[in-house]
Amino acid sequence: MNGAAVDAQAPRAARKAVSHRLLMCRPQYFDVTYRINPWMNPEKPTDAGTALLQWEQLRELYLSLGHTVEVIEPVEGLPDMVFAANGATVVDGKVLGARFRHRERTAEGPAYLDWFARNGFQELLWPEHINEGEGDYLRVGRRMLAGTGFRTDSRSHAEAQEFFGIPVTGLTLTDPNHYHLDTALSVLSADEIMYYPAAFSPGSRAVLREMFPDAVVASDQDAAVFGLNAFSDGLNVLLPQAATGLGEQLKERGFNPIGVSLGELLKAGGSVKCCTLVLS
Ligand code: ARG
Repeated sequence: MNGAAVDAQAPRAARKAVSHRLLMCRPQYFDVTYRINPWMNPEKPTDAGTALLQWEQLRELYLSLGHTVEVIEPVEGLPDMVFAANGATVVDGKVLGARFRHRERTAEGPAYLDWFARNGFQELLWPEHINEGEGDYLRVGRRMLAGTGFRTDSRSHAEAQEFFGIPVTGLTLTDPNHYHLDTALSVLSADEIMYYPAAFSPGSRAVLREMFPDAVVASDQDAAVFGLNAFSDGLNVLLPQAATGLGEQLKERGFNPIGVSLGELLKAGGSVKCCTLVLS
């Protein structure tokens, strides 16, 4: 599915890539030393060199697609800091800081917020409630989908709505393998998503059906290889390489799926989207 040739039949022409400004964190101190999600096994060896190489390929891919990538300095002793998506949530330049559920990651919140303060962002909010940034907050056009169930406290949803002034829809995750919203749902354009219904509570599933009747629905296989942990610029969709079924569905809808291999980071339960904090 890598950068497939343009199919004249597909409505590809109607799709346009939007350039984004992204924040990433080099996995210099990457490791799996604790277990806070089912993907993590501290007994299994990791290879920081491979992680760095795979991460660098993702960064270069973003640059080649015309996106701007900022980098935040990694902090020793914070092996999950590579998952920049969790560091904050940004809407219209306003920054809601992240407050982590697990003590192993709590120091990441202030480290990320400090980066924003030093880089010209003026409206910063240190949150009252636990929230894991854009791991659980995903923008779709002028609204926000918000995960809860494992990490982000549902009380954070009201805090985010009040701060950003856009409608926030809460969704409950029920499958521990999909502990953040961005592991079960991915935003494709201003009004399209793809998701894995089985990861949500029955009520949340009904809400998603109501809001997005034409959504791309992921198979068990594609969800199991983290295929929904994807980044879309409206045309190009970067997603884990193994999610071939999703790749096909995306092609049929006129997107350009690009398979990315981030196997080393998957050992910590993260992939493309987890490594990517969308600044604008
Ligand atoms: N090991 C990290 C954790 O469990 C992975 C975070 C993945 N990030 C994401 N946005 N889903 O917190």
